[in-house]
Amino acid sequence: MQVVPSGQTCGAIVSGLDLREPLAPARLEALRQAWLKHQVIGIVGQSLSVDDLERFAPQIGPWGDDPFIAALPGHPHVVEVRREPDEQAPLFADNWHSDWSFLGSPPAATMLYGSVVPPVGGDTLFANLHAAWEALPPAMQARIAPLQGIHSASRSYSKKGRYGEADKGRSMTIKSSDDALATQTHPLVRTHPETGRKALFVSPAYTVGIEGMPEDEAKSLLAELCAHAGEERFVYRHTWQPGMLTLWDNRCLNHRATGGYEGHRRLLHRITIGERSLAPAP
Ligand code: SIN
Repeated sequence: MQVVPSGQTCGAIVSGLDLREPLAPARLEALRQAWLKHQVIGIVGQSLSVDDLERFAPQIGPWGDDPFIAALPGHPHVVEVRREPDEQAPLFADNWHSDWSFLGSPPAATMLYGSVVPPVGGDTLFANLHAAWEALPPAMQARIAPLQGIHSASRSYSKKGRYGEADKGRSMTIKSSDDALATQTHPLVRTHPETGRKALFVSPAYTVGIEGMPEDEAKSLLAELCAHAGEERFVYRHTWQPGMLTLWDNRCLNHRATGGYEGHRRLLHRITIGERSLAPAP
């Protein structure tokens, strides 16, 4: 297995693996360590069916929940991130977010497999939230360390949200619902359960307030923190290849989709992975 760091703030390309076969324990551990170190890895040179993806995923961790996007028929843990060549609906997921952070137990990881990769564009951007936290001035770190962010899917998946009733002509099957109005608090600064490193935990898509703080004050603090987290110095640009499986760590990264592939299909298969500690003992 070869691991080549991106040379940017995070990210690495991994080669020399065939994920259709179960990985030997030492190889799996080396892969996990590469993922934890680089936060997002692109495992290249794969040729995976949806069944192969479902066999590989539990080696990383337990299935995560996937609200608001319909699963593939017969594959309850796999969703499609799809865009057709002539699609006019706004891009999916082009706002910084950490997957499903509005859940009580957000997914630890997300796996996304490049089934149809356009010849240009469609990169995914990743923001390193460890680096963003570490670069904050000490006074800001002290101010936000005790605070709880309020997370909600309302801006995206409620009936009035971005993917709600007014969203037409989309090839993905999004299930908007007013269940998306629910809120969940999480610390603004979280400690990674596997590495012990601290990370900022805010996103413009899902962090809608700060517990106990007046709305205007929270809005302005969140805008400042989200702008900081999205600064170019913390961002890695991940360029897809056909047959690449990308695995990222939602506990220390925000991500967002980009366009630039009009006239081309883009189809990725996605599985979310829960925290390992929640997995039943083997
Ligand atoms: C996602 O957020 O799951 C999709 C990212 C992408 O399409 O690049």
